Amino acid sequence: MRDVAIIGVGLSKFGERWDSGIKELMAEAGLMALEDANISSNEIEMIFGGTMASGRFMGQEHVAALMSDQLGLNNIPAVRIENACASGGSALRLGYIAVSSGIHDIVVVGGVEKMTDVTASEATTALGGAGDQEWELFQGITFPGLYAMMAKRHMYEYGTTEEMLASVAVKNHANAVKNKYAQFHKNLTIEEVMKSKVVSDPLKLLDCSPISDGAAAVVLAPLERARKYNDTPIKILASSQARDTLRLAERDTLTGIKATSIAAEKAYRQAKITPKDVSIAEVHDCFTIAEIMAMEDLGFYKKGKAGKAIMDGETALGSKLSVNTSGGLKGCGHPVGATGVKQAVEVVWQLRGEAGDRQVNGANIGLTHNVGGSGATSVVHVYKRAD
Ligand code: COA
Repeated sequence: MRDVAIIGVGLSKFGERWDSGIKELMAEAGLMALEDANISSNEIEMIFGGTMASGRFMGQEHVAALMSDQLGLNNIPAVRIENACASGGSALRLGYIAVSSGIHDIVVVGGVEKMTDVTASEATTALGGAGDQEWELFQGITFPGLYAMMAKRHMYEYGTTEEMLASVAVKNHANAVKNKYAQFHKNLTIEEVMKSKVVSDPLKLLDCSPISDGAAAVVLAPLERARKYNDTPIKILASSQARDTLRLAERDTLTGIKATSIAAEKAYRQAKITPKDVSIAEVHDCFTIAEIMAMEDLGFYKKGKAGKAIMDGETALGSKLSVNTSGGLKGCGHPVGATGVKQAVEVVWQLRGEAGDRQVNGANIGLTHNVGGSGATSVVHVYKRAD
């Protein structure tokens, strides 16, 4: 196994991108990553492209080949990865495996989703496909509904409050205000979140990540060759993925995501670190309760303790552990196939010291956490600036 580094990153602006189709979004992020890596196209050997439901949202399949065309890489093999909202994280992991194993040297990992060309109800149905279509979606449950059940149980078992949920949205919107790529540039108050319309009790509009368009890309290389392209390669210290049941009804618990605990444990072991060593983390806050559970499942807090800690500001920008500095899925947006790759882009900018107004001084070790569906898949990566 070889060490792997990220040598280039690119991101499109996230949001309602009616000015751009899926091709333009991929080009925006992909060309930025190639330029950032200072790499010529004939050195790229493979493309891994994450997208969840481009067929449902756009009528477009075979997206990785399109990605390759858009980047002018016409003869480069490309493969699409679909793993629900973890499509981007899983694409990154497969790119990592390809380089680490020695099969490929330079690979591009992209993620994209163009969700706003369909109605909210069509988007909800498409997203529902990340669960069990027959036993969950067909029975009437939506994704906000699944996470609302987890929230209710977490509140029942640990006394988590709606204000604690709201404080996740307030923190992540505050970070998004400092991120020019983010969908929302609007500070929120706890009161505003609490007063927003109920989507699925106890989750309100401002507890939810939005429907978004966007793309992200990274370029991977073996660490030993990385400095040829870039003075500040970011080493991937660990890459791990775990599974739990697709259906929520068959889980051991509703107050956490077992796939995350397992993936995190493996990642810490591979990286030879503990949660205490992490200074920045991009976690999967598709709903505010999801960030609270993630902070517990990733081992940053004991079960039932994360909600109060977030409300007390312990994970705000510039604290010992700064969480979702990009604005997270809530504030930056959640174009589902792009999210896992976007998380890596943000961590690379932070570890390079290039995160502008939201730079966390002394950011040393970064973690990304990308969940598929209601928790059937969880992907965790750990990163450090190469010595
Ligand atoms: N956060 C903040 N603002 C949001 C928002 C969100 N999640 N969703 C919509 N808005 C804003 C819109 O920008 C719009 O503002 P404007 O009136 O100033 O233009 C306003 O709220 C109404 O937007 P609209 O598009 O009518 O909202 P909607 O009711 O159709 O959709 C949700 C709202 C919450 C249902 C939708 O965002 C959603 O389904 N989110 C969850 C996505 C999801 O499940 N992802 C997968 C996770 S696993």
